[in-house]
Amino acid sequence: MKSLEQPRILIIDLGSQYTLNIARELRGLGVRSAVLSPKKAGDWLKANQPLGIILSGSDSSVNDPESPVPPDSILHRRIPILGICYGMHWLANELNGKVESIPELKEFGPVRVRLNTEDPLFAGLDPQQDVWASHGDSVTVCPLGASQIARSLGTGGIAGFSNPHDKLWALQFHPEVIGTPKGDAMLSNFVFGICGCDKDWQPADIIGQIREEVIKAVAGRRAEIGMSGGVDSTTSGAIIGPALGDLLFPVTLDTGFLRHQELPEIIANVGYAGLKTKVVRCQGRFERALAGLTDAERKRKAFKKLYTRILEEQAGRFGAKLLIQGTLATDLIESGTTGGDRIKSHHNVGLKTWLKQIAPFRNLFKHEVRALAKAVGLPDSVCLRQPSPGPGLMVRVVGTPAVQDKVKIVSWADWKTTEILKRRGEMEKISQLVVALFGVRITGVKGDGRAYKYPIAVRPIDSVDFMTARGHRLSPEIEDEIISELTKHQEIGTVGFFYTPKPPETIEFE
Ligand code: XMP
Repeated sequence: MKSLEQPRILIIDLGSQYTLNIARELRGLGVRSAVLSPKKAGDWLKANQPLGIILSGSDSSVNDPESPVPPDSILHRRIPILGICYGMHWLANELNGKVESIPELKEFGPVRVRLNTEDPLFAGLDPQQDVWASHGDSVTVCPLGASQIARSLGTGGIAGFSNPHDKLWALQFHPEVIGTPKGDAMLSNFVFGICGCDKDWQPADIIGQIREEVIKAVAGRRAEIGMSGGVDSTTSGAIIGPALGDLLFPVTLDTGFLRHQELPEIIANVGYAGLKTKVVRCQGRFERALAGLTDAERKRKAFKKLYTRILEEQAGRFGAKLLIQGTLATDLIESGTTGGDRIKSHHNVGLKTWLKQIAPFRNLFKHEVRALAKAVGLPDSVCLRQPSPGPGLMVRVVGTPAVQDKVKIVSWADWKTTEILKRRGEMEKISQLVVALFGVRITGVKGDGRAYKYPIAVRPIDSVDFMTARGHRLSPEIEDEIISELTKHQEIGTVGFFYTPKPPETIEFE
């Protein structure tokens, strides 16, 4: 059995709410994909050669100077490209076509199109199809060398073009949504017929490959695995546990920065993976290692150093020579190990240790791990769990040392905000909730007296790959409820909502 390779299709996320649908459709066809922001796609492409690239839609207009831009190197690689909606506009714009905002050509909802079924993208399809479209801009002139392959029967507009010689295809409508019943056939024609992909997404095969790789790397020795309760480590534990049996040593660090009631949740999740974790209480050691540190990177580096040391000590006691990490392809890209800038030091990437590190998920992406979690029977509470940073609430006490009295305030604020969002049915719509305490105090008035208290930042975000993110706007009623609840705490003076996208922000404030 071959070892797990990089996905063959790269999906560049240009900001569409349907980007993950593309990945899901491809998985349904048995094909793995990487979903990356344009910047990270550029980094990833330096080391990888996919068989095809799909450009997603976007809520931007190509005529807007701030609009997202795929790495232009993709046009010189002679890899088949399929641009969907905004992706189509970008191709047309780049290649001397024309994109305009013409009211009569706009379409929002079901559309009937006529296809040129001679084009390989539409092979085997009936010429008239119902599709789903949503666009204000339209391509009015196809790029040089390209010809129209689909026409809207409603507006008469260009619904698709291709230039097989230059390996370019483009669709104005969305093949990845259920409103386009034959969209899966079009995607199938693209990935198999045009790109020449093999089926490489069979959860049972991937699980088998990972187990085989780990058994080979471990070679009968003992191995430690850090269990954070998150989807990555829980899924790797669930996959690897049965392969390693007693050779596997699961460990959880209680750093003092866990969220309210997080430890019992971690223990339960590890239990779903069929494992039992050793909880190492090391709050005092982290407190001492971080004493007086205010700067974000210094805090992160001190955390990482002690985290590594404690894992080494535990491994030494158990006689383990290896450390199994749940690190994903995205973690490696984000921490700059694949060629991009180092934005911040993630706690579990690039550890300096004598332990031999293995990262069986290094070629997997978050959406794939979530699907594997489902395939191994983990409950939704694990499969859909929001990411939580390894350094925990340490990075949520911002610009000031993460001492326990401040950690307790932010832990309480996070718990209360989460409760409100869950009760309001909002939590499951959010990709990640960040609640943080800022280390400055503001003057306010509580009761009749002066209050000199801390601000709390609430930052709900929507994201596909957590490399780019958008603020998830809460309704004024929900914001009011959060403000009223949080300011009941005697140390909290104000609450702010942060909707700035990443970039320019990052998701955690530190
Ligand atoms: P940033 O803040 O870099 O976060 O935009 C991207 C995603 O990574 C999470 N994050 C971490 N996860 N160890 C982790 O395991 C870390 O040190 C770390 N720092 C950030 C963050 O919560 C978000 O989901």
